Amino acid sequence: MSDKEQGLSRGLTNYGDRDFSVYLRNSFASSMGYSRDMLKRPIVGIANSFSGFNNCHRHFPELLDAVKRGVLMEGGLPIEFPTISLGEVFLSPTSLKFRNLMSMDTEEMVRAQPMDAVVLMGGCDKTVPAQLMGAASADLPAVQLVAGPMMTSRYQEERLGACTDCRRFWSKYRAKEVTTEQINDIEGRLATTSGTCAVMGTASTMACIAETLGMSLPGTAAIPAVHADRLRAGEESGRAAARMILNPIKPSQVMTEKSVENALRVLLALGGSTNAIIHLTAVARRLGIPVSLQKLNELSDTTPVLVNLKPVGSNYMEDFFFAGGVGAVLRELKPLLHLDTLSVTGQTLGDRLEQDEGWVDRRVIAKASEPLEPQGGLVALFGNLAPRGAILKRSAADKTLFEKEGRAVVFTSLADLAARVDDPDLDITKDDFMVLQNAGPKSESGMPEAGYLPLPRKIAEQGVKDMVRISDARMSGTAFGTIVLHVAPEASVGGPLALVRNGDRIKLSVKERRIELLVDDAELESRRAEWVSDNVPPEQRRGYDRLYASEVMQADEGCDFAFLGPVD
Ligand code: FES
Repeated sequence: MSDKEQGLSRGLTNYGDRDFSVYLRNSFASSMGYSRDMLKRPIVGIANSFSGFNNCHRHFPELLDAVKRGVLMEGGLPIEFPTISLGEVFLSPTSLKFRNLMSMDTEEMVRAQPMDAVVLMGGCDKTVPAQLMGAASADLPAVQLVAGPMMTSRYQEERLGACTDCRRFWSKYRAKEVTTEQINDIEGRLATTSGTCAVMGTASTMACIAETLGMSLPGTAAIPAVHADRLRAGEESGRAAARMILNPIKPSQVMTEKSVENALRVLLALGGSTNAIIHLTAVARRLGIPVSLQKLNELSDTTPVLVNLKPVGSNYMEDFFFAGGVGAVLRELKPLLHLDTLSVTGQTLGDRLEQDEGWVDRRVIAKASEPLEPQGGLVALFGNLAPRGAILKRSAADKTLFEKEGRAVVFTSLADLAARVDDPDLDITKDDFMVLQNAGPKSESGMPEAGYLPLPRKIAEQGVKDMVRISDARMSGTAFGTIVLHVAPEASVGGPLALVRNGDRIKLSVKERRIELLVDDAELESRRAEWVSDNVPPEQRRGYDRLYASEVMQADEGCDFAFLGPVD
């Protein structure tokens, strides 16, 4: 690249006179107090998703300083710019609805502003996938820097971490095992530092995936948000981005079919979040890389679960960091991985794994020869109820429910669920299958993390901890249970899930990867003929809501917008 196309001279505002455009831009940039020497430097943009509505990114101002330091060390000019931030619990109806908006913001601002490389600062659940999607589409050298996980806290003698313990204590409260006073005390102790949720939820899973893909620096995914190493990771990420200006490595060289397959392996070995399937599919799709649920099953059969973290196991992200982190998992999986994939450092995965990354705590990261489970944590199910697939996190489920037939108890929407689930007269037993309809990506609720249906209070009070639950919704990566999610096609576009009625029999077989509605075809056809959509059509909406309603794709396509894929 010539100097003319670098730094501030890159991507000029069009006034019909190139030299005037450069002159004007330099003049305005000078108004920010930069010296001329500084303005001649190549530029590393820093996409900063700090927000007062994002507790997980609370430490970003300090982390940003570290990134800037790193860029300056390598002779670049660091320029921060804001993007949308998606604070998981602050968005209605659900953060997923806005992931694609953030990806578009990231992509367009990376492309439109004069930068030669970019550091992407994200962390909370949807922010990292949005940034990776945007970076994939913009295809400018990019380094993903994650927020890092929260530290754990304590309630009496129990260790607490958001948000598996949030759900655990809430379930106890519903079952009257915890008092109102206690649940209020616990509320103040679940999330006590900056950083992302403290377990292997979606944010942590995506951080590990970003490192496995090669988009984050080796060893950085699990560093706690408040650890000094997190700041050093920021500094090093700034340096790496600045170095890539001389030796450009584009996201399309890093995120390839092979590195995506490696990421799927790691996701399975982590017993990671079901959401990560949707996000990885969406990221890969931006580069024309297909991720099929059949492929997930193939990999799942041959990938052991190695990581003992909540919600599947008993430890927290800080334990994972001190136990050896992603590097230790990658070394165990080495025979199963593509080693010629490239990271943003220019190093191959094989080169990285040649290096000894030190001691591994086997209480947290198992050897591949002595895994926690011989097969991967996630499995895709198919059948007449989910022709395009559904997901079950088998590592976080009750295995005694895996081969089971049950009676459907149907809730037609989240509002219906909320209104009736605790009704003492609800006709339900622990052996029934709870079915939630109209909670998929095109539904009014925008595919919320509502697939973890609360057990009816009268069942919970019997001490029952799990039931089969089926929906087209998602589930928080921090949740657990025998929960069939992401049923595609979804109910609100007329998928078979919409045709289930109270009393129907459903058969689940994890062994056969099947989920079947035991209703004959003629009856299903007659129900289909009667079915009408409750969705407000896109043309009766406006703004982003309209765009979303008309363009969002199904779960097996990553819930991306159709038009954001690569141009043929
Ligand atoms: Fe941000 Fe859980 S709320 S990662």
